[in-house]
Amino acid sequence: MKMIMPSILSADFTRLGDELKAVEAAGADWIHVDVMDGHFVPNLTMGPMTVEAVRRVTALPIDAHLMIDNPDEFIEKFAAAGATHISVHAESVVHLNRSLQLVRSCGAHPGIALGPAAPLSLLDWSLDYADYVLLLAVNPGFGGQEFQPAILNKVRVLRAELARRGLSTIVESDGGINEKTIADFAAAGVDAFVVGSGLFGTTDYSATLTRMRREVERGMKSAAER
Ligand code: DX5
Ligand code: ZN
Repeated sequence: MKMIMPSILSADFTRLGDELKAVEAAGADWIHVDVMDGHFVPNLTMGPMTVEAVRRVTALPIDAHLMIDNPDEFIEKFAAAGATHISVHAESVVHLNRSLQLVRSCGAHPGIALGPAAPLSLLDWSLDYADYVLLLAVNPGFGGQEFQPAILNKVRVLRAELARRGLSTIVESDGGINEKTIADFAAAGVDAFVVGSGLFGTTDYSATLTRMRREVERGMKSAAER
């Protein structure tokens, strides 16, 4: 099953509750929350308080993408606030498996995030601890950027490695995904698509998501025919 998850980074924060209700009604599968600390990435955004507020408005799974230094210090707080999925950047920690185990011990699904320049080899000894892998397609920090095309190949290589190991780990991608590019991500093998400006920048969320799902189908079909 393919999942589309709005990144609230691009939502109108003066009306966050309405925005969440609108994307949920439009058929969003998860809600993606971009957590940035101004150190690991050059931007400062949301924390557990935001997750708690999101939790009060929607019953959808909440994916907290931790783009922060020392994520272990905050994992419990994000889980307690209602995050169902928590991803940690492999580049941001020394003991990745410990962070993933900490997420699981808090009752959330652990994910490994990788920045565009981080090699897939960082996953080698940690894949068994993760329920999903988030491959960032842009340099982290800001919405509205164009994705780096090499990421599509990174997705393909990861997909092949998961198949080789017989793992059903979810492959998520994040950054630069919109109506024009989502088919390429689907063809490469992405399961979960994070969409920020490509959704919140449009007026009719339901129509946009419907077109995106059609594009996902088209991308999968073209990959199958290859
Ligand atoms: C980038 C964030 C993304 C971002 C995606 O640092 O992790 O989730 O919000 O935004 P768009 O879809 O606009 O590239
Ligand atoms: Zn993100």
